[in-house]
Amino acid sequence: MDGNGRWARTRKKPTVFGHRAGADAVRRCVTAALEHGVSFLTLYAFSSENWRRAPDEVSDLTALLRYYLRHKVAELHAEGVRLRVIGELSRFETDLADEIRRAEKLTSRNQRLTLVLALSYGARSDVLQAARKLALMASEGKIDPATITEVQFASCLQTHGLPDPDLIVRTSGEQRLSNFLLWESAYSELAFLDVFWPDFTENHFEQLLSDYASRERRYGGRLDEEACK
Ligand code: IPE
Ligand code: MG
Repeated sequence: MDGNGRWARTRKKPTVFGHRAGADAVRRCVTAALEHGVSFLTLYAFSSENWRRAPDEVSDLTALLRYYLRHKVAELHAEGVRLRVIGELSRFETDLADEIRRAEKLTSRNQRLTLVLALSYGARSDVLQAARKLALMASEGKIDPATITEVQFASCLQTHGLPDPDLIVRTSGEQRLSNFLLWESAYSELAFLDVFWPDFTENHFEQLLSDYASRERRYGGRLDEEACK
């Protein structure tokens, strides 16, 4: 979700306006996912690199997060949304981290849509902690390094139990992954929208779904075996 700052700047408003409008776009996107039967939606709301922003902006973002947890979780729960967070929660203030854990617990049995929030998330650090976990198990003689499988590695990532993303969308015209789900995105389809995140609507969501439906996913193989003869 990119472009909140530029959206605000083009309106000569402070950045926080863009983040607030971005939070409204989150609601629209979640509603669209529910309406279209999407089962998993991951939102990259705050990267581990975002801590480098000015303290005022960081506190605006955490205040927004706190507000939404307090006021929107009940609504999401009623809609059958299961919340799950990936990222280094320990970097947030304890009361906020506790509130996030409570929201996960409250919604843990919901099945309609799993909404994954990536908060203080960085894919490299997740891959690294998985490697450390496996290295420790190997050093304790619990596993044989030579037999570690991709499935076993994936089970050590914070995204364990979640399917790899079918489609990754980045808004605002930037074309990079910026440390998002690097392991999990190996075969994801990518889409780059020239729209600032606060302008994202259900129409964009529908357009993305129909573009996705027309793509042919081969996972390195050939769909048309005839072509090999
Ligand atoms: C994305 O919008 C929102 C967050 C990082 C939380 P940006 O704040 O990165 O917007 P631009 O890139 O400055 O336009
Ligand atoms: Mg940005």
